[in-house]
Amino acid sequence: MKMDVLLGMQWGDEGKGKIVDVLTPEYDLIARFQGGPNAGHTLEFDGIKHVLHTIPSGIFREGTHNLIGNGVVIDPVILKKEVEALEALGVDVNSRLSISKKAHLILPTHKLLDQASELAKGKKKIGSTLKGIGPTYMDKTGRNGFRVGDALLSDARLRYESLVNKHRHLLSLYDPIEEDTQLEEEWLEAMHWLTTMDIVDSEPYVNDLLRNGKKVLAEGAQGALLDIDFGTYPFVTSSNTTSAGACTGLGVAPNRIGNVYGIFKAYCTRVGSGPFPTELTDALGEEIQNKGHEFGSTTGRARRCGWLDLPALKYSCMVNGVTHLNMMKADVLSGIDELKICVAYQTPNGRTEHLPFSLEDEIEPIYETLPGWSEDITGVLDKDDFPENLAAYIRFIEKHIGVPINIISVGPDREQTILLDKVLA
Ligand code: GDP
Ligand code: IMO
Ligand code: MG
Repeated sequence: MKMDVLLGMQWGDEGKGKIVDVLTPEYDLIARFQGGPNAGHTLEFDGIKHVLHTIPSGIFREGTHNLIGNGVVIDPVILKKEVEALEALGVDVNSRLSISKKAHLILPTHKLLDQASELAKGKKKIGSTLKGIGPTYMDKTGRNGFRVGDALLSDARLRYESLVNKHRHLLSLYDPIEEDTQLEEEWLEAMHWLTTMDIVDSEPYVNDLLRNGKKVLAEGAQGALLDIDFGTYPFVTSSNTTSAGACTGLGVAPNRIGNVYGIFKAYCTRVGSGPFPTELTDALGEEIQNKGHEFGSTTGRARRCGWLDLPALKYSCMVNGVTHLNMMKADVLSGIDELKICVAYQTPNGRTEHLPFSLEDEIEPIYETLPGWSEDITGVLDKDDFPENLAAYIRFIEKHIGVPINIISVGPDREQTILLDKVLA
């Protein structure tokens, strides 16, 4: 079998958690491959909303296993709280979750370094979630990291202390920041708890499943425009959020990738700093923000909102090899008379349909305007009941990008999902 991948095409928060949950019954394993608790993946069913940070979004469905892969960075304190919250709801997490020995751990001092680095950047700050993501990946690539497997060793405490000492040196280069002295104790306790979880050699685990005809879905975090290589650098996260990251983050070879589902919102949002050419800073932007409840699932920060950006979406589809697109939150656009879609940019060197090297330069989006629809579509169950202008909006995007849209989401609930054709081959 090949491994399918589901990825965000924009700046994160596209609705990955919801669609992974919808697709989970089709799969034997759901695997996270990068990012960490900077992610906030929301699922809604039976009138209850759940937000997951490190645990894959397949956790609520019986019969599907979940894996936190080697490419993920784990804060054991956050993971422990997530597991306990799910257990309180009656979810048998222990029998449904495995964790890679090679995943790296986020230490309390990684979080302090994240904070110190952002403070030092002042106005140029990235707008990090302050979960310690950047410093943890820096230690990984710098070959200093502390892995889940290290927590199992008899000298785990010494290894921890040696890394903390290094961090203390680094922190002394920054302005002092306030520290909560309880954090270390809580972290060490959570590290010991982590060693009681199902810790596995995840590469043979995933590859054996695929060889035995089982179906695996890799669940991305963040989005292509936050990718460390392809995103709006330096306003990005510190991992490869794109499909190549699913290979390195799980130990699955590129020739084993099957369908690539690219999720995008019918408009755009971004949380944190960085360029956003189609941003709406007016009342309409605020209206979309309120209607779409565009407030961060992890930090609660307001998400900036703007029109759909097709050069950016096309670029994301290219670098990911997207085979199917999923369009989310179409319902939020109901009632807007005219919808703009960015189809190209005007740059100092002329018009281009490609994503320019820097979106911070003087570029102006070139829009086409499409008529909106006024109908409430949150109860629509069939594509034949779409307002004609919504159908035209979908066709316009498909024609421009050249990739079929096969899932349309019209509300946050599991049930508010329309499959346009059979998703899985
Ligand atoms: P993720 O990080 O990609 O999983 O996305 P988030 O969970 O951070 O943000 C998506 C938000 O949109 C969540 O609050 C979802 O409940 C909500 N959502 C998902 N799909 C839809 C939809 O089609 N319509 C509306 N109105 N809300 C949606
Ligand atoms: P999900 O998986 C939206 C953004 C932060 C910041 C930048 C770097 O829920 O889509 P980091 O903490 O990674 O160093 O922050 O990336 N960011 C996200 N934005 N959704 C996310 O995850 C994000 N994870 C990080 O706001 O701008
Ligand atoms: Mg999110």
